[in-house]
Amino acid sequence: MATVTATTVTATTSDLLAPEPIDDPGAHRVLTGDRPTGPLHLGHYFGTLHNRVRLQDQGVEMFVLVADYQVITDRDLADRLAEHTENLVLDYLAAGLDPERATIFAHSAVPALNQLLLPFLSLVSVAELSRNPTVKDEIAHSSQAAVNGLMFTYPVHQAADILFCKADLVPVGQDQLPHLEVARTVARRFNERYPHADGSAVFPRPRALLSEAPMLLGTDGGKMSKSRGNAVALGATEDETARIIRGAKTDTERRISYDPENRPEVSGLVLLAALCQDRAPGAIAEEIGDGGAAALKRTVTEAVNEYFRPMRARRAELGADRGHLRQVLRDGAERANVIADATLAEVRQVMGAI
Ligand code: TRP
Repeated sequence: MATVTATTVTATTSDLLAPEPIDDPGAHRVLTGDRPTGPLHLGHYFGTLHNRVRLQDQGVEMFVLVADYQVITDRDLADRLAEHTENLVLDYLAAGLDPERATIFAHSAVPALNQLLLPFLSLVSVAELSRNPTVKDEIAHSSQAAVNGLMFTYPVHQAADILFCKADLVPVGQDQLPHLEVARTVARRFNERYPHADGSAVFPRPRALLSEAPMLLGTDGGKMSKSRGNAVALGATEDETARIIRGAKTDTERRISYDPENRPEVSGLVLLAALCQDRAPGAIAEEIGDGGAAALKRTVTEAVNEYFRPMRARRAELGADRGHLRQVLRDGAERANVIADATLAEVRQVMGAI
């Protein structure tokens, strides 16, 4: 992987930066997930997906959740939920997650996980909920006329996603750091308020595992997002990929350089090619030189299509068997339910709710 340093990561000292190998992989449990609102794109892949597969392959225990209840935070209806859920599993499997080693499940299929939301909500103030910068950003981009209650509480729900299985590491993009902070706060306050009789803590304090490319820009220069139509899907065809990259925003300067600060759009494209080719972005920019935006886009398109070709072929093959995708989710939910039931029982016990 190319050495790319993010300039604006607001990580705390407790966050780990990928891709450093994890010491003692067997001692960790990782949880992460996505909303089933549409196909995963290259930002997801380089931001977290690729990292998850690496962790799995290092022998870390993995939980990957399809956050289906979270879909209705910023829209009234969960459109084509079953289809999006299956396709998310398909993206996971194509990228290399192995359901034998990773527990892949939808969080709505794990009732005890959701019930943790109630005690957890009591640990967070309304002021804290309304200050969350990621929530504010999502509200700003929401097409809903009114902001619903779940929008404010979903970071706490996400804490339940993480803590139900006592995950200690959460591979996420930079935009999710405020939510990790909520999960840490919830864990700390719960442990303080409800210790075990011997004084030991119920929950670990989860840490973020930040990838080296936390935020790839979308083709319009904004945050890459499923809902903003500015992203190349993992499963896009080569022609679709070419079309989307051809339409990407650049600038008027002909000479291509890698300068994320002053030329975010051009640099985002250079970075994408660099990630696909496992080279330094500076070297790629240098090579294109005076070729301008057209040459840059050709390079990026080729790099993306080449890198994702095997994955896309696997995706097409796996996608033919929808029954298998649903079976993966059923098996994952079964494993997750055992763990969630045990955690909820422990929570009730320390609270005295027997
Ligand atoms: N909010 C995350 C996203 O939009 C998805 C998610 C839900 C998640 N629960 C989580 C991520 C728990 C990490 C941990 O992508």
